[in-house]
Amino acid sequence: MCGIVGYVGKNKNALHVLIDGLKALEYRGYDSAGIAVINDDKIKIVKSHGKIKNLEEKLNEVDNSYIGIGHTRWATHGKPTEVNAHPHKAGSVTLVHNGIIENYEELKKDLRKQGYKFKSETDTEIACALIDSIYKTSNNKLLTLKKANEMIKGSFAFGIIFDNDINNIYSMRKDSPLIIALGDNENYIASDVPAILSFTNKYILLDSNEYAVISEDKIDIYDNNLNLINKDIKEYEGTKEVVMKNGYEHFMLKEIHDEPKVIENTFKQFIKNNDINELIDNMPDLSKYDNIDIVACGSAYHAGLIGKSLIEKFADIPVNVELASEYRYKKNFNNEKTLTILVSQSGETADTLAALRKAKQNGTYTLGIINVVGSSIAREADSVLYIKAGCEIAVATTKAYLAQVLILSLITINKAISNNNISKEKAKLILEDLKKLPNMIDDLIKEKEKFEIIAKNIYKDNNIFFIGRGVDYAISMEGSLKLKEISYINSQAYAAGELKHGTISLIENGTPVVAVVTDENIAEKTISNIKETKARGANVILITTQKLNEKYGDSDFYDQKIVIPNISEFFTPILAIVPLQLIAYEVAKLRGENIDQPRNLAKSVTVE
Ligand code: F6R
Repeated sequence: MCGIVGYVGKNKNALHVLIDGLKALEYRGYDSAGIAVINDDKIKIVKSHGKIKNLEEKLNEVDNSYIGIGHTRWATHGKPTEVNAHPHKAGSVTLVHNGIIENYEELKKDLRKQGYKFKSETDTEIACALIDSIYKTSNNKLLTLKKANEMIKGSFAFGIIFDNDINNIYSMRKDSPLIIALGDNENYIASDVPAILSFTNKYILLDSNEYAVISEDKIDIYDNNLNLINKDIKEYEGTKEVVMKNGYEHFMLKEIHDEPKVIENTFKQFIKNNDINELIDNMPDLSKYDNIDIVACGSAYHAGLIGKSLIEKFADIPVNVELASEYRYKKNFNNEKTLTILVSQSGETADTLAALRKAKQNGTYTLGIINVVGSSIAREADSVLYIKAGCEIAVATTKAYLAQVLILSLITINKAISNNNISKEKAKLILEDLKKLPNMIDDLIKEKEKFEIIAKNIYKDNNIFFIGRGVDYAISMEGSLKLKEISYINSQAYAAGELKHGTISLIENGTPVVAVVTDENIAEKTISNIKETKARGANVILITTQKLNEKYGDSDFYDQKIVIPNISEFFTPILAIVPLQLIAYEVAKLRGENIDQPRNLAKSVTVE
């Protein structure tokens, strides 16, 4: 999604800060970029279509500056062109914007009547003109921003420079994130922490309906009544390392290699001494709830499906997993006996945030499973369990997904113990397995050659199927999403038993079918379904466990296989996804795709 960076101070050239910051935000996905800086007391705007290097090539048009705002745009309203790129200028106001102005058509009509003419197709240019028009009559900048906030429907984070106030950046936000970062006699704004990590790790989170005036030596923040307020200064725990590839060819590969550590960091929050009582003390008490809704998008939704499978099987609570974009507009059958779990890496996904608010309105208790500390969902949920994935840069999630599944597994184990579905002795063995999990992931990652061979075998295909039953179907869905989003190969996941109700007609000689068979209870049934595809010429790639391989591996129903080590059922889905992530990675690499920033996608989906 779009990215914002702003700088004011004399220690550095604003141009360099803006470009460095925008580059650090490239991972969010964008299709045009622009900057506005003050040169010779006048605002100068440079924009370009495409990548930041196109923008850099045009920067000789401007000189050093001490103040500026920059933006990477991910097109929502209007094509990704230079005219539609930010910053926009109307009258005395220059502005960059993240979010969506929902009532822009209505505002545009009024502004046209006032004589405003628009060059772009964007909602942002309307917001810019609106602020200019209010300012013309109010002549008071903070009152102007407050009035604009009241008139705009939608989400926004703005970085603004007024022509007659060229020493200050103004900011306000509603439902799109914005931070103000603190330097020494210099300050910054940014939509996301990585943008400022080269310069500082101290920052303030601007909240919705707050306004900020930022100069080189002062940051004034006002609440919605325009009273000055004090805000906590936070320190980002990580270093710039997290936004660097550290020698890996792609962030996605680096982040897969981070997985063993992420898993360890995530469970160590709850269990330091391998004592089951620690887990019981640190996990939420589910005994109050009759049912659970898990609401999320994309991979986080797939993590939710694994959670459902585990919770229903071991903790005996019915779980309803919903796509947030659907949940927010449908009738929900929840009440005070429902726990609503929101799963989100970014904590900013617009649909998941809206679902959270809806669940709260309905009076249900909300629990976030979140990566980004201080994100909107983390702040608004009744309680939060953090995954400790660190900054995830590749658009396709890998390590965060694993940690989401781990938290859902730990929630289940805790409830299964309190239900007496598993004894404390059995729980101890499960925790022993948990300790082994990071090394097992590490060993799987080392099987690089196997993934390369499979990738060579399938990368030229146009259609690839993923099949499985039960929890293996949920794993297949994530494997399929990973492959299609980065390789652009059409791939679909099917419940193996469903194939003969239509999809099997698509299987022909050589069609790749990735079959996930890890669940002992249903393995034979899935293997029958695999044989049905094999009989029609499918090229079957089997992902299975050591135990099942010993039982069925000699048979001839597959062409290639990856065998994952035996581990407690609670953690098998975590191991099973690693080969699928790596196969997707190798396929995309062979096809020469932009692995970390797949076309049309954005890292944090802050628009509906
Ligand atoms: C796929 C992927 C997306 C996200 C989805 C939700 O690889 O990354 O499907 O999982 O956009 O994002 P968060 O978890 O930030 O809410």
